Amino acid sequence: MTRARPSSPYLAPAFYDRALAEGRHRDIVGGRWDETGRIQMRILREAGLAPHHHLLDIGAGALRLGCKAVEYLEPGHYWATDASRALMLRGREAELADPSRLPEDHLIEDAEFALPGVPDTITHAICFAVFTHLPRDVVAQGLARIRQRLPRLRRLMFTVFLAPETAAAGPFRQPDGVVTHPDRPPYHLSRDEAARLTRAAGFEPVFRDRMLPRGQSLIEAVPA
Ligand SMILES: C[S@@+](CC[C@H](N)C(=O)[O-])C[C@H]1O[C@@H](n2cnc3c(N)ncnc32)[C@H](O)[C@@H]1O
Repeated sequence: MTRARPSSPYLAPAFYDRALAEGRHRDIVGGRWDETGRIQMRILREAGLAPHHHLLDIGAGALRLGCKAVEYLEPGHYWATDASRALMLRGREAELADPSRLPEDHLIEDAEFALPGVPDTITHAICFAVFTHLPRDVVAQGLARIRQRLPRLRRLMFTVFLAPETAAAGPFRQPDGVVTHPDRPPYHLSRDEAARLTRAAGFEPVFRDRMLPRGQSLIEAVPA
């Protein structure tokens, strides 16, 4: 009997339990630990993040960004969500220089972008290498929920894979070799589609051309 392929690798049975039991919390989020954390910090600083702001890291994984952002921000100003709270807790314990700077209740399990318990003080949000694993209807719903839930949001920085309009209907090889797909992970969107989804959620998209790990594209979403 053939098993159906999950729509996201993170939905594979026992995915998190097995990887955490094997001590692979860095691998779950794709490795390139320090480099990718630093890139995310730079993206946020360029988007105006300062220590007094309040940051939400959506799909935060093992806190590849969090271990740097918690040190940078004033205490209590970092919040995170992920489909696996166990993964965030492992990151807190293993990767933070001083875990007491990050209250455990700031790490919220949420696979629906409903952001339960996230305060409305959030000024900046980032969703890095998360939408790349999710189908476009989930991305559209996620963006709309983020927009509705965070009234003081100034910037949402998120990544997707883009494919040229003429090639978006089939598999597409990204600049660093990753092959993305319209209908299975890793997913891509055309630029027009990405702009449409972002606007439909109530944001104005600004495409930021910069080299990101695995050839992802960065979108700066400004509340409209
Ligand atoms: C490639 S990792 C990136 C993690 C983190 N943003 C970083 O850059 O280190 C993707 C993350 O998305 C999380 N994830 C997958 N589907 C999700 C969903 N529907 N809602 C929230 N998080 C999700 C996974 O658990 C994983 O931690």
